[in-house]
Amino acid sequence: MTRRIAIYPGSFDPVTMGHIDIMKRALGIVDQLIVAVAKSKNKNPLFECDTRVTLIQQAFQDDRMKVVSFDGLLVRFVREQGAHIVIRGLRAVSDFEHEFKMAVANGKLDKSVETLFLMASESHQFTSSQIVREIASLGGTVEEFVPQSVVKAFEDMGHSSS
Ligand code: PNS
Repeated sequence: MTRRIAIYPGSFDPVTMGHIDIMKRALGIVDQLIVAVAKSKNKNPLFECDTRVTLIQQAFQDDRMKVVSFDGLLVRFVREQGAHIVIRGLRAVSDFEHEFKMAVANGKLDKSVETLFLMASESHQFTSSQIVREIASLGGTVEEFVPQSVVKAFEDMGHSSS
């Protein structure tokens, strides 16, 4: 039987409880999940790529999941991994247009790539890395939104919460 390998790509700057929720849901559907952390240099990420990988590994582990970094075209990476499925999480309606464009672009670049959207749970509908970064930078508490590894990483950066 063919093993279903899926890629869950993202910037994960940093990983949130919403991302982890999607990882758990994806593991309920596929045989192997590869969480692919994009270097995203053009997005000027707050955390180094290696740190973003480590923070995910510290937050959640599963025998059927690995966390790696990638650079360049996502569809090329998907092919290199012998996968055909790309997992993306969908939150509020505002995500849809951007996600739709990416899925269509990836499908045009490689017809064998199928994007599978998983809905974030209700409690994570409005959790985003961007909002978490902003709250932390202003000294707010992010514990509700991110795993403990990320809370500690923010503290190490001097973003202690009130
Ligand atoms: O978490 P993000 O920032 O929404 O993730 C976006 C990501 C990394 C999945 C997307 O930017 C991506 O696939 N980048 C790789 C470059 C690429 O393949 N671009 C063309 C497809 S839109």
